[in-house]
Formats: sequence, structure tokens, C-alpha cells
Amino acid sequence: MSPGEPLLEIQGLVKAFGDRRPGTPVLDGLDLEAAAGEFVALIGPSGCGKSTIFNLLAGLIQADAGSLLLEGRAVPHLRGRLAYMQQKDLLLPWRRTLDNAILGLETQGVPKAEARRRARGLLDVFGLSGFEDRWPDELSGGMRQRVALMRTMLCQKEILLLDEPFGALDAMTRAQMQEWLLKVWARFRPTVLLVTHDVEEALVLADRIYVLTSRPARVKEVVRVTDPRPRAMTRPDLVRRKADLLRLLADEITPVAA
Ligand SMILES: Nc1ncnc2c1ncn2[C@@H]1O[C@H](COP(=O)(O)OP(=O)(O)O)[C@@H](O)[C@H]1O
Ligand SMILES: [Mg+2]
Repeated sequence: MSPGEPLLEIQGLVKAFGDRRPGTPVLDGLDLEAAAGEFVALIGPSGCGKSTIFNLLAGLIQADAGSLLLEGRAVPHLRGRLAYMQQKDLLLPWRRTLDNAILGLETQGVPKAEARRRARGLLDVFGLSGFEDRWPDELSGGMRQRVALMRTMLCQKEILLLDEPFGALDAMTRAQMQEWLLKVWARFRPTVLLVTHDVEEALVLADRIYVLTSRPARVKEVVRVTDPRPRAMTRPDLVRRKADLLRLLADEITPVAA
């Protein structure tokens, strides 16, 4: 890959479902790119097609049109190169922390003993030392999310898809998780695509933010954030950008007068 070339390019992606709104595509010509090691956030109205983008990238569903390029080469999907934390990435209630964390590795065929060894090595980074033998219902919400993230990270893929990973957490826990995610990102430096409905989260974490339109999702605006991390939301330029982003989103969710 030559320098400056994006790791991942989505060009003219189209997807319609045969659902209650037949003919209304969910995606209708979506373009998006990400450089190697870049942290990209996607924000857009609920139901606009964000999870659908991830499902297409992961090869769980097929696009109707458009292309996907990885290092400049057309590929049908990114399976094998990405780890995907789905919006509802639940832990298995009958598995303890460590064995929930190794699910992805097991799926890849890594023997259990070896998978557990690798997972133990990361417990500290994920703030789960001492909790490896707990059942999911003995963990806090933040801890459960960290186990799910650890499972995703353990797959050691270069591209991470995180679909609203902190959406269900309280503000305090969410801030801690964001800080912690940045640490993990700095250490492993994967390319991250993060879906969030939280404008501040996008501003605090991402190098670039794609603002998507309501269904069908198109790129409304791309915002680059170059402030050094960690970023405090009290910085005047971030406060201004937050207002700008909220205005862009409000445009998209204002109901059209009949
Ligand atoms: N498998 C599916 N079958 C039919 N409709 C779907 C399917 N997946 C998503 N949709 C529809 O596509 C639209 C976008 O969904 P989704 O990508 O989950 O939105 P978001 O993640 O942005 O909230 C919604 O209207 C949803 O109902
Ligand atoms: Mg979604």
C-alpha cells in the first residue's frame, strides 16, 4: 500500500431491503474511506443505515451495488480482516469472563488453552484483572462492555467495527470507557470505525467524523478533528464544533411538514 492511500474505501454502496418500505433503499450511493490506523466516527439519525454499513463490511449481508476496496483492491467484504462488535454484543451467560473473551479466538480455531493464555495477558489492559472467573451477571455494565471489546480486540484484526459500544452506559462510565478505548487504540493502533449517536463521543475520539443523512444514508459532511488527545469538551473549538454537528443532525431529523 502506497503512503496516503486509504486502507479501506467504500464507493457508491447501495442496499435496499424488501421490508415495509420497499423500494426505499437504506443506502443509496454511500462513499466512505479510512486510512490505516485512523479513528473514524459515523453519526447519523436512528434508522439511517449505520449498522447496515457495518453488516455489509462484515459480509453478513450483500450490497445491491457499489464497491469495497481494501488496499486499493476490490473485495466482496472484509471478513478475515476485521473484528466486529455488534450493537447487541451480548456475553454468553453460561461463560465466565475469560471464556467469553476467547469466543472470537475459538471461532478462529485457536485451541482453548492457547486462547485463554492470550486473554490472560490482556486482562490488565482491559481493567478486568481479578474478574476473569466472574459470571456476566456479576459484572458492572462497563465491565461487560470491556469483556465484549476484549473479545473483539483479541481477534487481532487491523480493522475494528464498533457499533454504539457505549450507548447503554451511564455518562460517567462512558467517559472512562472512552479514555480507556483511546489507550487501547494507541497501543494496538487498529483502524477503527465507530458508530455513535453521541456527538461529544465522536469529537473526543475520532480523527474524522462522517455525518450521515437520514435514510437513505449519504454523507452529509465530513469533519476532521486534529486537536491532540486527550480532548476536553470544554475547549472552545470543540464546543463550537459540537453545536455545528448538532445543527447538522437536527436538519436530518426535523419532520417534514405535511
Ligand atoms: N435485515 C433487514 N431487513 C429489513 N430491514 C432492515 C434490515 N436491517 C435493517 N433494516 C432497516 O434498514 C434501516 C436502517 O437500519 P440500521 O442500519 O439498523 O440503522 P441504524 O443502525 O442507523 O439505526 C431501518 O429502517 C431498518 O428497519
Ligand atoms: Mg444501528
